Amino acid sequence: MEVKTSLLDNMIGVGDMVLLEPLSEDSFLENLRNRFDHNEIYTYIGSVVISMNPYRSLPIYTPDKVEEYRNRNFYELSPHIYALADEAYRSLRDQDKDQCILITGESGAGKTEASKLVMSYVAAVCGKGQEVNKVKEQLLQSNPVLEAFGNAKTVRNDNSSRFGKYMDIEFDFKGDPLGGVISNYLLEKSRVVKQPRGERNFHVFYQLLSGASDDTLKKLKLNRDLSKYNYLSLDSAAVNGLDDAANFRTVRNAMQIVGFMEDEVQSVLELVAAVLKLGNIEFKPESRCNGTDESRIKDKNDLKEMCELLGIEQSVLERAFSYRTVEAKLEKVSTTLNVAQAYYARDALAKNLYSRLFSWLVTRINESIKAQTKSRHKVMGVLDIYGFEIFEDGDNSFEQFIINYCNEKLQQIFIELTLREEQEEYVREGIEWTNIEYFNNAIICDLIENHQNGILAMLDEECLRPGTVTDETFLDKLNTICAEHQHFESRLSKNSKFLTDHSLPHNCFRIQHYAGKVLYRVEGFVDKNNDLLYRDLSQAMYKATHSLIKQLFPEGNPGKVNLKRPPTAGFQFKASVGTLMRNLQTKNPNYIRCIKPNDKKASHIFTESLVRHQARYLGLMENVRVRRAGYAFRQAYEPCLERYKMLCKRTWPHWRGPAREGVEVLMADLQVPADEFSYGRSKIFIRNPRTLFFLEERRRQCLQDLATLIQKIYRGWKCRSQFLLLKKSQIVVAAWYRRYAQQKKYQKIKSATTVVQSYTRGWQARKLLRELKYQKRCEEAVTTIAAFWHGTQARRELRRLKEEARRKHAVAVIWAYWQGLKVRREYRKFFRANAGKKIYEFTIQRIMQKYFLGLKSTMPSMSPIEKNWPARPYIFLDGVHTALRRIFHLWRCKKYRSQFTEEKKAVYEEKLEASEIFKDKKALYPSSVSQPFKGDYLEISKNPKYQKLNSAVDEKVLLADVVNKINRANGKGTARIFLLTKKSFVLADQKTGQVKASVPLPDLTSVSVSTQSDGFFALRLKEGSASAIKGDFLLSSEHLIEIITKIHRIGATAADREQLNIDISDEFLVQFKQDKVCVKFIEGAPKNGNSVSCKRKNNRLLEVSVPTSP
Ligand SMILES: Nc1ncnc2c1ncn2[C@@H]1O[C@H](COP(=O)(O)OP(=O)(O)OP(=O)(O)O)[C@@H](O)[C@H]1O
Ligand SMILES: [Mg+2]
Repeated sequence: MEVKTSLLDNMIGVGDMVLLEPLSEDSFLENLRNRFDHNEIYTYIGSVVISMNPYRSLPIYTPDKVEEYRNRNFYELSPHIYALADEAYRSLRDQDKDQCILITGESGAGKTEASKLVMSYVAAVCGKGQEVNKVKEQLLQSNPVLEAFGNAKTVRNDNSSRFGKYMDIEFDFKGDPLGGVISNYLLEKSRVVKQPRGERNFHVFYQLLSGASDDTLKKLKLNRDLSKYNYLSLDSAAVNGLDDAANFRTVRNAMQIVGFMEDEVQSVLELVAAVLKLGNIEFKPESRCNGTDESRIKDKNDLKEMCELLGIEQSVLERAFSYRTVEAKLEKVSTTLNVAQAYYARDALAKNLYSRLFSWLVTRINESIKAQTKSRHKVMGVLDIYGFEIFEDGDNSFEQFIINYCNEKLQQIFIELTLREEQEEYVREGIEWTNIEYFNNAIICDLIENHQNGILAMLDEECLRPGTVTDETFLDKLNTICAEHQHFESRLSKNSKFLTDHSLPHNCFRIQHYAGKVLYRVEGFVDKNNDLLYRDLSQAMYKATHSLIKQLFPEGNPGKVNLKRPPTAGFQFKASVGTLMRNLQTKNPNYIRCIKPNDKKASHIFTESLVRHQARYLGLMENVRVRRAGYAFRQAYEPCLERYKMLCKRTWPHWRGPAREGVEVLMADLQVPADEFSYGRSKIFIRNPRTLFFLEERRRQCLQDLATLIQKIYRGWKCRSQFLLLKKSQIVVAAWYRRYAQQKKYQKIKSATTVVQSYTRGWQARKLLRELKYQKRCEEAVTTIAAFWHGTQARRELRRLKEEARRKHAVAVIWAYWQGLKVRREYRKFFRANAGKKIYEFTIQRIMQKYFLGLKSTMPSMSPIEKNWPARPYIFLDGVHTALRRIFHLWRCKKYRSQFTEEKKAVYEEKLEASEIFKDKKALYPSSVSQPFKGDYLEISKNPKYQKLNSAVDEKVLLADVVNKINRANGKGTARIFLLTKKSFVLADQKTGQVKASVPLPDLTSVSVSTQSDGFFALRLKEGSASAIKGDFLLSSEHLIEIITKIHRIGATAADREQLNIDISDEFLVQFKQDKVCVKFIEGAPKNGNSVSCKRKNNRLLEVSVPTSP
């Protein structure tokens, strides 16, 4: 639901001064102050908006605010400039009424800001689209350009408009902007050459010098240093909060958006630079011989640079600064210019150059923003003109006069239009109108602009009059003509009233403007009105090759010399103001009256005297009074009914009939006195604010009741909804719970059933089992009984049979015994001689049979080393048992042997032989038992290294091993290959395989070894044999047992030899060549590991130390 607020809601003070009660100047100001203190800078007087300058940015211009005010009635929301802009725009769009927005107020009151706010609001709410947006953007961007060239810092305002601006924005029938036209009014051009103290020149100069790139400045022949230029005041060159460099970029950007070509921008900047250069041209006096004073340019550098910039011939300009040519109809007269005249000419040129440049800019912008279609446009004009201006020290000049005249005219039109509008509304609505007194400033306007004796007319007259014309003669004229005028004051006027007024100097006159008295100094009035530019200068300018400058000085065209005096500045201004006024009168006016709260440009300061002064001269009180003279408040019937319908039961909540009747019913019901209001055609007019406040108060109370009612209903609804929701939730919860509970219960029942079922089934099964078991038992019992029965039967039968058999047997036995008895009795005599032997033999036979059969099953294993043998059963079998054991053992040994191959047999034979030789004789023997006798340890036949050796031995090699041949001299061993064949043994060199000794075995008589675990052995040779020349061999080998066994075996098998002696003792003699050496073996503690060491003790003794075996 859209909540409609009203101007009357949440008001700080009163939003519309018309409703002020009681109405007095004090309460008026108090209301303004109250609202200003609460940041409410806008207040209405009916449809007029009063705007207080907040001097700080307020968050009230956001896009949200734009949306809030869009398409809302003027009084619907709290006062805002947007409400006025919206009202104007909607009247324009919907009612086809051309609008003008008149923004007035003194300098610094916020007119320019207000105009920009209005434009931006209109731009935001009007149609959208690529083309439309471009137009909007161009219209908005024209502001920064014009502000740069036309605004300046003054003591009152850091961004004071020094020209008047009226902008017509044109819309199509849909309300989309098409374009615009800007009119400018009298630029304060004197500022170009001179600025009052504390003020500065137009922004553009500072912006250019601080914002342009070095390159641009170089092209423009400019220096960034401001102090280099005479035309720039330095005391306030830097303005707080103004960033000239950034603004320069903004302006360039804006020019681009508006549609300036790059070369146009360049031309404009060149002209600005030229003005600065112009200011630097200085003159010095020079006296000529004819007595006249001439002037010379001091330093021509600036002149040269300026001429280069503008493409003017230097000599032409130089001449124009030195001479003045006056052309009459037939003749031309040239006079020289003295220094003062030269300076005057220079400044005139600068002012003209700049003001024409400014006008050209406006024309150029107009060209860009002009509407493209020729169809009828709706127009909204925004007037932002320089504000009323008074210099306190009486330094007001022609410019202030013109500005104030313009403001005077605006006040005039305000008075006329407000009153007329008010009056017209009453007529339109059919309400009776009572006249109201107010100050009409028409008389002041007349003083200034009257054709015959107005100040401007007289100034023109003076300017055109032949003869000496000075500012003083002009003042004299005023003194005579205007002396009687009640708003004109002068010391020298005929009116003696001011003769003693010292605040009024002789060279001044004073005008009582609507906004206060202003003292004007006449000095410069004539000159400024004449606005004279020597023709030589304009012609020099025309000669320039710079296209723009040529355009700006068309009167310099020698071909079109116009001898008529150009219209004066005053005249021109009056004419343009006249046109403006006529233009404004055709449009529906909307007023924004700007008020400056203080002189310090500070926020939050409300200087009452200043505001009171402005309120007075702006005629705001009169405005309120006029507005209230008839009726203080009016409102269309529909919104009125909408707002107050709750006050009457018949109109609440809906009134079905016409709104007017509804309002009538409402008023009657509320018993509002009839003289307090009137019914117009579309509006109700309320005479007294009291009545309105009464209605408001009732409405407030009623709203409270309604709010309570709404609250009550809402709470009821909320509780009901809450309850229903709870109920619904409860049902859901209950359903879920029941389901859960039932599920649980079901599961319980199910498991119980299963248990019962299982028990029943178990019980049934068990019952069945029992029955089956019983049945089975019965069957078994039957069988058993039957078996028993049969058994009993059988046994009985058996018993019977046994009995029978026994009886039979008994009979037989008895018969046998009887027989036997009979036989024995008969044969007793024969038995005693033979029976004993037979029984003995029979018994022995039986025992032997049993013994052998028993032996068969208790035979031990076939292993030859098996020691077990069954025990002997009877002593008498002892011999047999031992013999059998031996036979069995031999038999199984034979069996065991029979599985050996020949080689294995030989090996075992050798082992057996070794055992016979060494067992229990030599300690080394046991360790050799487990080692197989390999014979050829060197693999002599396969190893190619021993091929030669192999071939040297003809017999088959039975043993090949490496032995150590012990040296008699030191007991150390030398490795030798020992080969044994059937016939001989050979010792050969281990490395080369060269045979060192080959001894036939028959030459070997004995072998000596020790009893210990060493490998030493001596091979003793037959004395006198060929081999024995070198003596015996003392060798040592790891395979001693094998070597000696093999040698012994060969000896044993050889038929041609004696048995080889094997001498086993720890001391034996060995024959070395001639000497016999005793080799002695001693047991020693293990040294150097476990090795056997041999040492020569003396010539006859070699001692071998054998470590004791562990
Ligand atoms: N609505 C506003 N919000 C914030 N600041 C404002 C507002 N109106 C004005 N100002 C401030 O006041 C200064 C002066 O305002 P502005 O230039 O509009 O005055 P003016 O009436 O146009 O004066 P002049 O007649 O000298 O041109 C602005 O530069 C701005 O700082
Ligand atoms: Mg301004």
